[in-house]
Amino acid sequence: MHVEHAIVGAGLIGGYLAAHLADVTLQLQSDARLLVVGRDYAKSQFGPRLTISDFATPVQTRDTQNIEFVTNTSSWASTERYPNVVWLTIKCTGIKQVVPDIRPLIGPQTIVVCCQNGIGSDAVIRQAFPDNPVIRCMFPFNVVKLNKGHFHRGSSGTVMLERLPLGQYPVFDDFHQRFSPVIDALNEQYGEVFPCAWCSNMDALLWAKCQVNLTNSVNALSNLSLKETLLDKGYRKIIALMMQEHLAVCAAQGIALPKITKVAAKFIPTVLRLPNWLFSRLAKSMVDIDPHAKLSMWWDLDQGRATEIDFINGATMIAGQRLGIDTPMNNIVYAAIKKMEKAPTRYALSAQDLLK
Ligand SMILES: NC(=O)c1ccc[n+]([C@@H]2O[C@H](COP(=O)([O-])OP(=O)(O)OC[C@H]3O[C@@H](n4cnc5c(N)ncnc54)[C@H](OP(=O)(O)O)[C@@H]3O)[C@@H](O)[C@H]2O)c1
Repeated sequence: MHVEHAIVGAGLIGGYLAAHLADVTLQLQSDARLLVVGRDYAKSQFGPRLTISDFATPVQTRDTQNIEFVTNTSSWASTERYPNVVWLTIKCTGIKQVVPDIRPLIGPQTIVVCCQNGIGSDAVIRQAFPDNPVIRCMFPFNVVKLNKGHFHRGSSGTVMLERLPLGQYPVFDDFHQRFSPVIDALNEQYGEVFPCAWCSNMDALLWAKCQVNLTNSVNALSNLSLKETLLDKGYRKIIALMMQEHLAVCAAQGIALPKITKVAAKFIPTVLRLPNWLFSRLAKSMVDIDPHAKLSMWWDLDQGRATEIDFINGATMIAGQRLGIDTPMNNIVYAAIKKMEKAPTRYALSAQDLLK
């Protein structure tokens, strides 16, 4: 029995990934174990079976008997050979702290897959492991936990993995041959619920995702459901203004944003500025969502945790400063989130408060 893949961060993305990777790696190699590194409180989730569901397909279970869950990597490492792949599924806010924890897992051939939203957190990993291939991975769908060991995919899309140019890392070319079968198997076996593809322009893809994720901060400040936030013209105006700043920053960097939503990136602000009656008709897919759903920054604030704002709105602001492009709406929202992160009790800000 040996570990080919390790997942660090037993949360929503880690759980959904583990449910599929455990089964697929076992099919490829009958003695493959999947190492999951997580907090003690998450351990009871990862039993011999995980449950998966989504908006389109019936509830399914996955055989995950080959998962080995550990809370401490130093106790695990001594007798093992290094995993081929370490998937980092923690939030951007935990990236610096995770470096010493993953060091025992990273051998000379190990590739690290950074699954974080936003821009720039992978730089910490590249700096810590300069000789290892570090690739980024974009999860387009949202995952929530419905019950213990039950991970639910709330939207669709293809998981995108960064394709590095051949020859960039001495070990990568060989690695690619070892990693591709797992991605092919995921597609073959679970293409309906876990489609994967390789992406040659990850920068552009992540900046496009970052634009969409700007909504996250406004949802958190509104203290409403996502649907209620989007049905408020004032909040939509704020999101549109932030997106316009983001688009200007991307254009100045020469980044052509790929289309990852029904509406092309540059037209989203226009749609957001439509009057309510027209917006709710034309952007039906945006508002036709679970009326209780909230985005991750809302949950972070609710649980008293730091948000990922530094890597989302913060990325737009830093690039704007570097390029001489003003980002006033992002600055206001950023400051408001930072203040709310420190507040002893939860409160809401209206669109008028933010647009003053
Ligand atoms: N959830 C989604 O729908 C979704 C969709 C697309 C992209 N993403 C992105 O994917 C990334 C992961 O998000 P998530 O929602 O899966 O986060 P999550 O549910 O908070 O899961 C992360 C888990 O990792 C744990 N963790 C943090 N540092 C650790 C360490 N050093 N060792 C072991 N465990 C550690 C966290 O514990 P503590 O909280 O106790 O530190 C938490 O249990 C984020 O960048 C997010 O933006 C998420």
